[in-house]
Amino acid sequence: MADIKTIDDADFAGKRVLVRVDFNAPVDGEGNVTDDTRLRAALPTIDKLVGDGARVILTSHRGRPAGEGYEEAFSLGPIARRLQELLGRDIVLTRDLIGPEVAEVVDAMENGDIVLLENIRFDKREKKNDPAFARALADLADAYVNDAFGTAHRAHASTAGVAALLPAYAGYLMEREVATLTGMLDEPKRPFVAILGGSKVSDKIKVIDALMDKADVLIIGGGMCFTFLLAQGYEVGASLKEDDWVERAAGLIEKARERGVALLLPTDVVVADRFAEDAATKTVPVSAIPEGMMGLDIGPETADAYAAAIADAASVFWNGPMGVFEMEPFAAGTRAVAEAVAANEAADTIIGGGDSVAAVNKFGLADAMTFISTGGGASMELVQGEALPGVEALRA
Ligand code: 3PG
Repeated sequence: MADIKTIDDADFAGKRVLVRVDFNAPVDGEGNVTDDTRLRAALPTIDKLVGDGARVILTSHRGRPAGEGYEEAFSLGPIARRLQELLGRDIVLTRDLIGPEVAEVVDAMENGDIVLLENIRFDKREKKNDPAFARALADLADAYVNDAFGTAHRAHASTAGVAALLPAYAGYLMEREVATLTGMLDEPKRPFVAILGGSKVSDKIKVIDALMDKADVLIIGGGMCFTFLLAQGYEVGASLKEDDWVERAAGLIEKARERGVALLLPTDVVVADRFAEDAATKTVPVSAIPEGMMGLDIGPETADAYAAAIADAASVFWNGPMGVFEMEPFAAGTRAVAEAVAANEAADTIIGGGDSVAAVNKFGLADAMTFISTGGGASMELVQGEALPGVEALRA
């Protein structure tokens, strides 16, 4: 981040500042934001700019609208309401994204005012990083701040294009996310234990491969473990598996051996006769997964082994659940891992976005973690060693 200016490097008094945030948060049928983590995470940056006396123009996407104009289902209305509650003050939500209506609202702003533009993806030029659209956004402001780490892996007009057209700065959240994740990769405290779960090897292969070069212990759980078990020569019954990826999984097992990385795979699993909360279940060794039954969680022996490895860690990175933790009969493995990570108070514990954040929240353990990333896809791409367009665009 040394070559990136942050909001501490400027005084924004009286300046119109376009701030890209990631307010892509879940909203229920009644229009309530059901998880406001991403809104809260942007507050330090907003508070600093307001404190400076800036005129703050916030912009975000929410979901994946068609890009053909306003769609109620993707409006930032619910976000604006929640943000007002969090800030304890009024903010203006525009209907347009650029153009005369927005210019008029911005012209009327006073120092310290906050305006939120409607969902930036209502215009399809956003995702195309259209130069004219980026220019129109830039024309609204004197400076640009990117605090949307969760969207930093997208090269869109509001995350990348506009940064070249205005003095550009990283917000506090962006700075902290990048510094924490790159710090973990560059100089991990050892032993460094990486825990990877989730359903598909194909989705996680790059991240597993990249962490194999960094970690001392690599723990695998979730649906993807069955492709690894196939690579070890076990039968996996009706469990989720990706036949095309068995060879790649075998290659990773071999790579771990060559590099001296302890690759931990399940030794027992919880199997069910169907994918349902009230399914008939039993715990079996991985050598005895019955035909027709599917593994939906790691077993207790595996959970104990994983917890022991986590207890010895000096740093931990976790992405992806160990099983179908949303269903109580298959939640024990993920709960055991979450509790083990939380119990290791001496270690740096970093939760890498997505479902593992939902799990940590569900088990009430979020406060025990050192850092919880607000970026799912973005944190995975960063850990994989890929450049994030939203970060690159801020480089001087
Ligand atoms: C996310 O939730 O991962 C980010 O907001 C990015 O959303 P996207 O995958 O629709 O670009």
